[in-house]
Amino acid sequence: MSDTAKRRVAILISGRGSNMTALIEAAKAQDFPAEIVLVVSNKADAGGLEIAAQHGIATVVIESRPFGKDREAFERALQDKLTASGIDLVCLAGFLRLLTPWFVRQWEGRMLNIHPALLPAYRGLHTHERALADGVKIHGATVHFVVPEMDAGPIVMQGAVAVRADDTAETLAARVLAVEHQIYPDALRLVASGGIRIENGVCRTRATGSADDRLISPAVI
Ligand code: GRF
Repeated sequence: MSDTAKRRVAILISGRGSNMTALIEAAKAQDFPAEIVLVVSNKADAGGLEIAAQHGIATVVIESRPFGKDREAFERALQDKLTASGIDLVCLAGFLRLLTPWFVRQWEGRMLNIHPALLPAYRGLHTHERALADGVKIHGATVHFVVPEMDAGPIVMQGAVAVRADDTAETLAARVLAVEHQIYPDALRLVASGGIRIENGVCRTRATGSADDRLISPAVI
């Protein structure tokens, strides 16, 4: 694929940016159908900003705090920046700000998020703690299109891990995070290459699960 045909992507962050980094690394591949052209943070002290800059990617801080409850004013500033940068796709990666239906509609079918649970289970916060408290045996992460409802929207890709008997929220989070770093770039590749269509709120693709597609937990020894 020639560079000119690549989809132009902005990543929105608020924190350390490990998923952002995974996307940046993956997009360096010549055949990757998207390029990361902009990283936006709503927090000036987000660790991910420096990492993005080290990779030579343009960064911008649009502090959300001064806008207070005026969400749309913040989002208009954000939208202006995205439009000026010719952005085709937006990836939320640990972006800790609720988006209004107005903003979400501007990016309908063009904005992805990653959530650390197998949606529709465990929407919201503290997903790993809640999964452990429920005693689920399989947990994971989901890449989905963003819709006005939080942690909902057509599911693009999911990755799962077996929950271990001795897992803490931290050890489980670490294994799920490794899965996130794999599925977010893969999902972006799929979306940016046009390999997904949304039908009645469900993503359809010709890609299938891997041949060895069973994950059984716990394993009986
Ligand atoms: C990740 O766990 C992601 O699933 C959630 O927020 C966290 C962001 O981590 N939405 P990072 O900033 O990408 O390291």
